[in-house]
Amino acid sequence: MSDYKNLSLTLITSEVKPGSIRWRSPSNIALVKYWGKHGVQLPRNPSVSFTLDGAATDTTLSYSVREVAGEGIDVVLHLDGELNEGFTERTKRFFKELLPIYPFLKQLSFKIKTSNSFPHSAGIASSASGMSALALCLVSLEEELFEPFKDRSEFNAKASYLARLGSGSACRSIYGGAAVWGTLASLKGSSDKFAVPVSESLHRVFQDYHDDILLISKSEKLVSSRAGHSLMDGNPYATARYAQATRRTDEMLTVLRQGKVERFGEILESEALTLHALMMSSYPPYILIRPNTLTVIERIHQYREDTGLPLYFTLDAGPNLHLLYPSSIATEVKKFIREQLLYFCEDKMYLADRVGKGPERLEVSE
Ligand code: PMV
Repeated sequence: MSDYKNLSLTLITSEVKPGSIRWRSPSNIALVKYWGKHGVQLPRNPSVSFTLDGAATDTTLSYSVREVAGEGIDVVLHLDGELNEGFTERTKRFFKELLPIYPFLKQLSFKIKTSNSFPHSAGIASSASGMSALALCLVSLEEELFEPFKDRSEFNAKASYLARLGSGSACRSIYGGAAVWGTLASLKGSSDKFAVPVSESLHRVFQDYHDDILLISKSEKLVSSRAGHSLMDGNPYATARYAQATRRTDEMLTVLRQGKVERFGEILESEALTLHALMMSSYPPYILIRPNTLTVIERIHQYREDTGLPLYFTLDAGPNLHLLYPSSIATEVKKFIREQLLYFCEDKMYLADRVGKGPERLEVSE
C-alpha cells in the first residue's frame, strides 16, 4: 500500500485563492485497546472502537498563499478563541512531518480555529477528535487544490492515515459506528497504517449504544500515553498481550455482529483492567486509576448482580470511567448514575454520550 509520498503536490501559487475548510470530528472509545507501538505510529496489535457522538472537535482551517516564502511551516492555532502556543507548536511539527506527503504545506499560511464540545479541563483527551478533524481538513484541502478523490473510501483512508500520524487512535475516528485499526487476518482491507469501518456489520443494539463518561478526576495525567506506549517495549507481558488483543479484536467483531451484550461487556471490562495492569507491570510501574475509580467499579459490579442489567465499564489511559449500555436500559442506568455514582465524580460531573455517525463537514462560519 502507498505511503502517500508525492513530491508533485506543489502549487502554482499565483493561482491559489484564500479559503477555509471546516470539519467536526468525534472522539472514540476503544473496546479492545491499542497499547504499544513501533516505527512511525504503527500499532503492535489491532484495536476496535466505537465512534462517539457528542464529544467532538470543531476545526476550521483557513489558508492563503504565504506572503514571504520561508523555511518551515507557517501556522497559528486558536483554541476556543485564544492563541494556544502548545497546540501551535504541535501542529507545526505535525505539518512538518507531512511535507513528503503534502509539500504544498510550505507554500501556504494557515490559521486554525478549533474548539471542543466537552469542557476544556474535563480530563478527556481531545487528541483523537482534534487530530481527526485536522486530518479531514487537510484531505479536503488537497481535493480543493488538486484533484478530487476517486471515491469516499479513498478519501477516508487517506484522512485516517494522516490522523494516525498525528495521534494513533485518532485514525479510528474517521468512521461512524465502529472502526478497526491494525491488520487482522479475518478482516479484508484492514491495515496498520489506517483504520477501516466495521459499522455495516454492527448489530442494531450497538448502533445507538450509550457511553456515559464519569469524570473521576480532571487532573492532568502523570504519565502521558506516548510514554506509556514506549514502556510497553520493556514490558515482560508484551508478547502475550499483543496476541491476546489480536484474538479479542477478532472475537469482538463477532460479538458486535451478533449483538451479544454480555460477552461484549466481559471483553470490554477485561480490556480496561488489562490496560491498567500493563501500566502497573511496566518499568517504572505507574498507576492512573484513583480510589474512586475502584469504588465505582465495585458499584457497577454490584448493580449488575442486583439487577441483571448489562451495564459494563471501560477505561482510557486515565482514571475516568466510560459506562456502556444499550439504550433500552437508559432510564434505569441514568437514575443509578445520579443516585449512586455522581458522588464519586469530580464536581459531580458526567458526560452523556453514545455511538455516533462519524465526522461531518460543516459550512464555514464567519
Ligand atoms: O492514540 P494514543 O497514542 O493517545 O493512545 C491511545 C491509547 C488508548 O486510548 C489507551 C487505547 C486506544 O486504543 O484508544
